[in-house]
Amino acid sequence: MNEYDLTGRVAVVTGGAQGFGRAITDRFVASGAKVAIWDHDITLAEKTAKEIGPEVAAFKVDVTDPAGVEKVRDEVLKAFGKIDILVNNAGIAGINKTVWETDLEEWRKVLRINLDGPFICCKAIVPAMLKQGYGRIVNIASIAGKEGNPNAAHYSSSKAGLIALTKSLGKELAQHDILVNAVTPAAARTAIFDQMTQQHIDFMLSKIPKGRFVLVEELAALVAWLASEDCAFSTGAVFDISGGRATY
Ligand SMILES: NC(=O)c1ccc[n+]([C@@H]2O[C@H](COP(=O)([O-])OP(=O)(O)OC[C@H]3O[C@@H](n4cnc5c(N)ncnc54)[C@H](O)[C@@H]3O)[C@@H](O)[C@H]2O)c1
Repeated sequence: MNEYDLTGRVAVVTGGAQGFGRAITDRFVASGAKVAIWDHDITLAEKTAKEIGPEVAAFKVDVTDPAGVEKVRDEVLKAFGKIDILVNNAGIAGINKTVWETDLEEWRKVLRINLDGPFICCKAIVPAMLKQGYGRIVNIASIAGKEGNPNAAHYSSSKAGLIALTKSLGKELAQHDILVNAVTPAAARTAIFDQMTQQHIDFMLSKIPKGRFVLVEELAALVAWLASEDCAFSTGAVFDISGGRATY
């Protein structure tokens, strides 16, 4: 394992109770950081925090609730003194349906969590990063945001929006030592698969030239670099981790 030095850093990982978020939390702690897991499943978040160690604290929050996000931001600032790293990872897949079969409310739900959520968390945390003159923001988008998966227009659109949010905010903060980048993973076998049809899972696997799903640890390694000082000149950028699927 390559070491990226996160000693003394404080990170917020949304949706850190399981899946990608848990692997990112593991990797951050192994690199010397303290991590605040923000998850609406507080039971699982607390279990995960306990299993990883005293460097991790769990906070219950729904990332779509601006007042709730501001409240936990203040709690983290009080407990840890600062926030250096924000990983916008909380997200859902939504139901696999064609556009014309998708309810407007289902569409909005996916957009709310996957796109409004990162906007709300950035809006709440960036001022603290500006004050301290340092920050690293990593947005967990998806290859679906670049390619557009059939039967997942809400999800694909939310991740395309997250890529654009990354590019806009990256430019807004480029004069500061605050970098904003996105990663676009292929599918990984996590609990999110429970929300998808088997047909959709098979479709995603069939699209990956490497012929397998990405491992959560592989994604965490990329995120650890993007969250570190070693990443110093990349911002507003999109980092592929799609096993060869991405064509741009
Ligand atoms: N697993 C994949 O195939 C895959 C591929 C590409 C991108 N992604 C993205 O990676 C991220 C993590 O996915 P995962 O596979 O680890 O999912 P997961 O379902 O295993 O974990 C998601 C976590 O987010 C939390 N969460 C969901 N909605 C929330 C909300 N409103 N507020 C706070 N917490 C909330 C859940 O409680 C859960 O702990 C998501 O943004 C997902 O879209 C996943």
